Amino acid sequence: MSEYLPGLEGVPATKSNISDIDGEKGRLFYRGYPIEQLAEQSTFEETTLLLLDGRLPSAHELAVFDEQLRRNRRVKFNIRSLMKALPATGHPMEILQTAVASLGVFYPGNECLTSPDACGDMEYIHNMTVRILARMPVIVAMWEHIRRGYDPVEPRADLTFAENFLYMLTGTEADPEFARLMDACLILHAEHTINASTFAALVAGSTLASPTGVIAAAIGTLSGPLHGGANEKVVHMLDEIPTVKDVKPWLDKKLAGKEKIWGMGHREYKTKDPRAKILQKLVEKFVSKRGGQVSQKFEIALALEEACEARLGPKGVYPNVDYYSGILYAEMGIPTDQFTSIFAVSRAAGWLAHWREQLADNRIFRPTQVYIGEPPRDYKPLSQRG
Ligand code: COA
Repeated sequence: MSEYLPGLEGVPATKSNISDIDGEKGRLFYRGYPIEQLAEQSTFEETTLLLLDGRLPSAHELAVFDEQLRRNRRVKFNIRSLMKALPATGHPMEILQTAVASLGVFYPGNECLTSPDACGDMEYIHNMTVRILARMPVIVAMWEHIRRGYDPVEPRADLTFAENFLYMLTGTEADPEFARLMDACLILHAEHTINASTFAALVAGSTLASPTGVIAAAIGTLSGPLHGGANEKVVHMLDEIPTVKDVKPWLDKKLAGKEKIWGMGHREYKTKDPRAKILQKLVEKFVSKRGGQVSQKFEIALALEEACEARLGPKGVYPNVDYYSGILYAEMGIPTDQFTSIFAVSRAAGWLAHWREQLADNRIFRPTQVYIGEPPRDYKPLSQRG
């Protein structure tokens, strides 16, 4: 029997050519392209197509895909009614998972996945990919209005993916630099090898479940605080620290109590996450554009990172993507409980790329276990038990 490794640490779960991490050097590549170059020069639409197809698209291919995304933003009013029926206190990730799962009701056709090559209908796969990608940000933005008792803002086809999302979220057109910042954030979160939610998508996909079922499984998995839910936790954690001078005693107390420092640590990186480095620069740029006024939260975050480096650095625990995305989204004025939903909007690109890769060479995931329970024994009727 092979060795049991908790959390499957270091166990390859699949072969993939979508992204790659160098955890020692702190590098991340999508289809071979460094994340730094994509965040600086690409768009979310282009990066998504790169992840899905494996190569940078031509201008024509990108224009076609972009147009498909723009034309698929409207959400059926039944989904809107369903969302309106849910309690306003519902967490956006639960609402997103519910709404995405229910999209499948309107777009049947996944029987084609059972064709002998399990990848029989590329048109269905592509159409569902576009529908899910285009509607996820719309659902997230819709909830922001519905939960406050308003009708959602209608989507616009004349705006880019990031621009439309911000427009629908806030009700006003974002200035181009703000939209570009959101675009870079979406690129940075789009893909990250076989993390927990992508693995969930692979497992669900390997059963030939519908794509909305696959993405709903991934959304539920991303929501946990050890994964995507950490960005929201980061902000609540920083709120616990009154001033910069309180950072060290606060950290001592947390570590003495064996508590987690949210947004720190990563299974794959033994150095600072490259996405955290880029996001940190984006926060600095955003803050300086705003007039150089550094928020107290950002000052505390920098002091906490420094204090953590001394205490957790020797264990290879450094800031991950959620540390600085949490801080950046807070500076951008985005509601804290929407941070993880924005992560999901973006990571849907990676999930769908992996789903397609899984279908192309599918075998159902069915790992084994090390049984540590009772040996076989006879059932005792209730009357004979003490
Ligand atoms: N705060 C405090 N200590 C941490 C830590 C954190 N955020 N992350 C890891 N460590 C410590 C562990 O306590 C452990 O110490 P020990 O060897 O003395 O027991 C050591 O570092 C290894 O951590 P481990 O929990 O085995 O790592 P993992 O690979 O199983 O877990 C994470 C990875 C991401 C789940 C973990 O780092 C974590 O919980 N981080 C906080 C949540 C978070 O930000 N998640 C988003 C990830 S992108």
